[in-house]
Amino acid sequence: MCGIVGYVGDKNAQDFLVSGLKRLEYRGYDSAGVATFDESGKATLVKTKGKIADLESKLARERREDKAGIGHTRWATHGEPSEVNAHPHQVGDIYLVHNGIIENYKELKDQLKGYEFKSETDSEVLAALIDSFYKNGEYPLTNAVVQALKLVKGTYGIAVMSDKNPDEIVVARAGSPLVIGVGHGETLIASDASALLGHTKQAIYLNDGEIATVSKNSVEIKTLNAEPVSAKVEEIETNLAAIQKDGYEHFLLKEIMEQPESLKETLRGRVNTRDWMVHLGGPGLTEGELRKVKHLVIVGCGTAYHAGLLAAYYIEQFTPEITVEVVIASEYRYRQAYIPRDSVALIVSQSGETADTLACLREIKKQGVPTIGIVNAIGSTIAREVDGGTYVHVGPEISVASTKAFTSQAVAMVMFGLTIAQAKGVRSGILRPYISEIAKLPEEIKRVLDEFNEPMQEMAQKYKDYDHAIYLGRDTAYPTAMEGALKLKEISYIDANAYAFGELKHGPLALVDDRFFEFALLPEGELYDKAVSNVQEVLARGGHVIAVTNKKEFDLPVEDVVKITTSIELMAPILMNLIAQLFAYYIAVGKGYDVDQPRNLAKSVTVE
Ligand code: M6R
Repeated sequence: MCGIVGYVGDKNAQDFLVSGLKRLEYRGYDSAGVATFDESGKATLVKTKGKIADLESKLARERREDKAGIGHTRWATHGEPSEVNAHPHQVGDIYLVHNGIIENYKELKDQLKGYEFKSETDSEVLAALIDSFYKNGEYPLTNAVVQALKLVKGTYGIAVMSDKNPDEIVVARAGSPLVIGVGHGETLIASDASALLGHTKQAIYLNDGEIATVSKNSVEIKTLNAEPVSAKVEEIETNLAAIQKDGYEHFLLKEIMEQPESLKETLRGRVNTRDWMVHLGGPGLTEGELRKVKHLVIVGCGTAYHAGLLAAYYIEQFTPEITVEVVIASEYRYRQAYIPRDSVALIVSQSGETADTLACLREIKKQGVPTIGIVNAIGSTIAREVDGGTYVHVGPEISVASTKAFTSQAVAMVMFGLTIAQAKGVRSGILRPYISEIAKLPEEIKRVLDEFNEPMQEMAQKYKDYDHAIYLGRDTAYPTAMEGALKLKEISYIDANAYAFGELKHGPLALVDDRFFEFALLPEGELYDKAVSNVQEVLARGGHVIAVTNKKEFDLPVEDVVKITTSIELMAPILMNLIAQLFAYYIAVGKGYDVDQPRNLAKSVTVE
């Protein structure tokens, strides 16, 4: 969602702020701005609706040699995307950029007498509140920010500057990430460590409830209650190459094609084909604790939720004594759900910052249930707050549409299920086919991507002008269908929904007509014949069916078939999902859309 950058040092601040904001573009935004300060405190504030490129053109006319400043990309919550609603907000001496939502901003606004507000945002109210405590520089900026934050309800990551002291930036967080980059003679601020790459690899991740006062050579951190915090400097693990397109036209295609390698990283050192065992160190549960687990709660949003649903089918197949409940974080956080004893919660998030998922994690922890993160972003809030975890290690996922994370999240959760099954003494004859297929998946994924990249491009041309699509599957192919439909709708804006095949006759069959195509996932297996009968029902009503199958003898008179030849059986839906990813990608490209940054969406949903 919104992005924050800040700089204080000896170099040109505008240069870092713009390059940093470009790195954060992928998170989704609709307006942007920067404020820089010269040594005397004279501020230059430049904002624009639209893209960073527009901001750059404006800045070219306002080029400054200022050595300190803050910048922001805004994803509108309160007030439309516009220049006046863009950050930084300036009130009196205060300049502020803010991620998150100030829930009690109306109340605060009513109490702030004598201020005239220019924007419709909650953030401008926070800037005014800080200014009211700052009193033209009578009090230190950090104290003024602390006083203001004590009155705030909601979430924030903020960077604040004053034209009275342009050598200092004050940053604070509650629910929205902030990283401080420690350089040589410079200090950098970002809401995502990727903005710091190329400048420094040394970072301090601020925790909720902390406030830092930074200048070019110092970082001083305290809690809002004035307790000093000793800063832990960590190495940023991502490298620059991982956040570049590497010759691909879009990050989305790069990330789809990266899956053989990214899944290998997920499996590295964890799957052993000599003893046919899975070894996961991260969750930190003893053999005895694993043996006692009777219930799993899997929490996530969007693609992470679908990965959880898929994993649940597998875990239930090989560990009959366990029940698995997969929940949507935004719903679960407000349910009065009782979690039974002997449960473990899996908290699934690529970014590790999703507000609803994080809120569930905190609620679940209050019930004393062990929490295990299935997270990609290293050092993210969820990764730091869970009791144990398994990083999926897929590297940065830049495109808003999640692809490589899905594959690895699903497999990582299946591996966690396998560790429970091993501890419970489930026969190795039952577990071995899963472990063997997981080990083979990277190679099989590569073969499928190589074989079907071009054919899916062609097929997408034929279907790109449909307005509606139905994705269908049963059993493990059902969550895969849900994920396929989500991919199509979010990047091609085609209205796509997923149904379990068995549900067709309970309503959705009424939809079948020439405005729709049906994307049918038909993995070979126990339920294959039943799914085929359902396809026949669709065909009998004139449906336009694309069938994706690994069945050798497939002779249904569908409009198109994608026949995958593979030795993978149980995990075939994971391969079928690759077809859905390529199909959605090429449809969006064919329609000429911004595939990496689809309209209205943000990569990391840090507000509720
Ligand atoms: O970072 P997270 O995994 O917590 O994100 C969850 C969802 O916001 C995310 O998967 C979203 O649904 C993707 N845009 C789907 O492609």
